[in-house]
Amino acid sequence: MACLLVIEASPRFENSTSRILTAQFVEKWTRAHPNASIVVRDLVRSNLKFVDLPWIRASFTPPDQLSPDLAAALTTSNTLIDEIVAADHIVIGTPMYNFSIPAVLKAYIDQIVRLGVTVSMAYEGMLKNKKATVILSTGGDFSPGAPFEAANVATAYLKQILGFIGITDVNVVLAGKTLTVDQGQTTLVDFVKQFDGAISAAAA
Ligand SMILES: Cc1cc2nc3c(=O)[nH]c(=O)nc-3n(C[C@H](O)[C@H](O)[C@H](O)COP(=O)(O)O)c2cc1C
Repeated sequence: MACLLVIEASPRFENSTSRILTAQFVEKWTRAHPNASIVVRDLVRSNLKFVDLPWIRASFTPPDQLSPDLAAALTTSNTLIDEIVAADHIVIGTPMYNFSIPAVLKAYIDQIVRLGVTVSMAYEGMLKNKKATVILSTGGDFSPGAPFEAANVATAYLKQILGFIGITDVNVVLAGKTLTVDQGQTTLVDFVKQFDGAISAAAA
């Protein structure tokens, strides 16, 4: 049975373009994969801790030598890794913040990138045969040829880190110019319509 992991990172909930487009992706993906299972990891509601000293100590300690305290430091990381290991397709709906990704998404990434668990000791990604779709909402325009295209660090970073853990089949849907909604030049409904083709293709 196919499994989709849905990762959400926008705190704007019903006004969030990335959440609306991600919901449309899930609907289309589910139609293409009946009987599939869907797991939602909402990072805004997950209250993830940042990596700290016990986490670092624990992640570099052989599993059979972990004290109960050190083992506890990896509980959340283990849960998140189990979720992504079980998934065939991962969809990440995220805003661009300061040309990069929101802190909640970076906190998630720091929890799931683990030597010997998702990356081998020879630095090879261990999560094979998975696809990822990134739906990246941006206030400005970072489309090919746009003056600020190169300032979009989010796309390059997400491709880099997903590839590092073995997920190299990554499709990015760039949902740019959300400012036009916030400034009242278009409606949320009309805005999301323009990405219908890209979302359908990604979910096929
Ligand atoms: C803290 C913060 C930083 C942002 N930084 C950028 C940015 O660097 N570039 C940009 O184009 N838009 C930026 N934006 C705008 C968001 O990317 C835009 O509103 C996007 O639609 C948010 O995603 P959402 O609609 O899913 O919430 C920023 C918004 C916030 C709140």
